Order: sequence, then C-alpha cells, then structure tokens
Amino acid sequence: MRTDHATDLEITMENPVLRGDLSFEDYHEILSSEPRTISVSYQDRHLFEITIPPSVFNPIISRSAQALIDIILKGDIPVAGSRFVDLGCGCGIIGLAAAEKSSKSVLYTDINPNIDFLQSHPKFRPDIDRVMTQSFCEKEKENSADIVVFSLPSRIRDQKPSDESVKAAYLRDLDFIPTMIKKISHVLVSGGRFVFWYGIHPNQMHYFSQFIIELSEFFDRNSLACLLEYQFEDGYTSTIYSIVKK
Ligand SMILES: C[S@@+](CC[C@H](N)C(=O)[O-])C[C@H]1O[C@@H](n2cnc3c(N)ncnc32)[C@H](O)[C@@H]1O
Repeated sequence: MRTDHATDLEITMENPVLRGDLSFEDYHEILSSEPRTISVSYQDRHLFEITIPPSVFNPIISRSAQALIDIILKGDIPVAGSRFVDLGCGCGIIGLAAAEKSSKSVLYTDINPNIDFLQSHPKFRPDIDRVMTQSFCEKEKENSADIVVFSLPSRIRDQKPSDESVKAAYLRDLDFIPTMIKKISHVLVSGGRFVFWYGIHPNQMHYFSQFIIELSEFFDRNSLACLLEYQFEDGYTSTIYSIVKK
C-alpha cells in the first residue's frame, strides 16, 4: 500500500485558471464553462493532450485522476490485454492512460452526454474503443469487461444532480452505491477487477464501511486490496481500492 501521492505524472493546463479563494464547486463551474486544453506527461515523456469541452469535469486539481493514472502507468493493475472500462470517463484521461498501457479495448462511458468528442481524440482506436453515454454501464452486455475503473463522486446529498451538470462529477445521492455495485458486477467477468477511487470526508467513515459491506455481495471480500491511502491536513482521506468479482 502506498501512503502518499508521490508521482512521476504531470498534468498541466494551457492558460491556467487561478483558484484563489473560490470554493471547489465554484472553481469547477468556471473550469467547465469553456473548452480547456490539458497536457499529460509521465516520467518527463509527453503522452497526450485533451481539449475538454464545456460541462465536462476538468481533472486539473483532481486528487483521483492523478492517483488512478499513476497506478495504471506504474503497472500496479493488469491493464495490458484487458477489456478496460473507464466508467465516469469525463474527459477520458484514465481510459487514454489504459490505451497507453495496451489495453485490448477501452469503453469510455459517462452519464454526461458531452463525451462524444473522445471519438476524434488521436489516441482513440476506431473499431477497438467505444464511447457511450449511459448510467453505470447499464447498456453493456453481461461479462463484457475485465477491469472497471471509477472515480466515485465523493460528496453526498439527498438529491441527484442533473446528468449533464459538472456537479454529477462530485455529488451523489444515497441510491448511487447500491445501483452502481449491481451494474458493475453485471458487466464484469468472474475474476474481473473493480478499481475505485473513494474520497472519505471527515466524519463520513460510516458511508465507506457500508459501501465495503455492500460490495461483498458480488465481490470477493478477501481480494480487497488498498492500493493507496493518503490523509490530507483537512482530514479528508483519498483512497484507491481494488476488488475482484466472485
Ligand atoms: C470525479 S468525476 C471523474 C471524471 C474522470 N474520470 C476524471 O478522472 O477526470 C466522476 C464522473 O462520473 C460521472 N458519473 C456520475 N454518475 C455517473 C453514473 N451514474 N454513470 C456514469 N458516470 C457517472 C460524472 O459525470 C463524472 O464525469
């Protein structure tokens, strides 16, 4: 288990937007109000650029995208040759990293309908990769994936945000987890892997414990492995776990 965010990954944005005193939500509204180009490098090698359209989550300050891509590029999960699902793909930064590591295919999928631009990305492999707007892979066939990676929205509210809103990137309601677990287990083969980033807000450990208990209905709890855990000064804990489907 790694306990810090030391990384060889660098994500930069053309014409940076300073956050200043803006709240996380206000900053993301501004980031996603117009197209913005980010560039991704690993170990000083340029990998790709993405021009993110409006209303799509911008990972420039994301604790999850950086950590998940790092794990993929380091080879901590067996991406080569896999049918890889970038669930909640947003701008596709995680799936593009999986293509870089020779996944057999990448399904870029999100509830947000503004993701079609990925089909014209230079690293998108026509006839191999796909882009689909849907909730939790609900239109996919049973047993059609080997690895599903998802960076879960970590703030909990009573109401579900609109699918097209950038708020859907970081807010979820209480039905989110049980639905997600069922749909992901449907699409994964037995022995397939669910890798997720989960941010634990201070005083919300009970939601996380409940999530792990619910996972064990479809996933082998003995296979649960913590790939990263890092606690920030404000008490917020960033985690990445991997678990294998029964
Ligand atoms: C934290 S963002 C991560 C985006 C991208 N993976 C990244 O790292 O930049 C979470 C993403 O999940 C998507 N999302 C939220 N609910 C979803 C659902 N039910 N099905 C599919 N995607 C969903 C959001 O639209 C958002 O793009």
